[in-house]
Amino acid sequence: MRSLLILNGPNLNLLGTRQPDVYGHTTLADIQRLCREKAEAVGVGIAFEQHNSEGALIDAIHGAKGTHAGIILNAGAYTHTSIALMDALSSVELPAIELHLSNIHAREAFRHRSYIARVAVGVICGFGAAGYPLAIEAMLSHLDRDP
Ligand code: DQA
Repeated sequence: MRSLLILNGPNLNLLGTRQPDVYGHTTLADIQRLCREKAEAVGVGIAFEQHNSEGALIDAIHGAKGTHAGIILNAGAYTHTSIALMDALSSVELPAIELHLSNIHAREAFRHRSYIARVAVGVICGFGAAGYPLAIEAMLSHLDRDP
């Protein structure tokens, strides 16, 4: 069975209590459950991970090569700063979708820049936790597209 890596970056382990006005009350465990349900429904495997450090995220991206067909990445604040994460995605040559709970374009100017978007197939943001199952669907539709 094909499998996708769903990778979450810094501070996302605090979802549920972290700025609920921005990110809602859904916890990361709730999101993982949503992803598992969606993955089962559409017949794809998933690995769901969260890391606070940039190096651990890079290692997870490297590890995806040969194991996963695509990467769904909510890189948190590293989205806006990390050339290293962008390079890691380019290096493994796996399709990636950039994902955010909040609409980063409606927020502070420093969140409008994304290094991840440059190497991503597409970006989903602003739909809260519902963005995760949407990203799974979007990745499968990308993988199954006509060449
Ligand atoms: C976020 C948006 C980022 O700007 C922020 O630093 C996060 C969460 C989101 O999911 O909305 O940590 O990636």
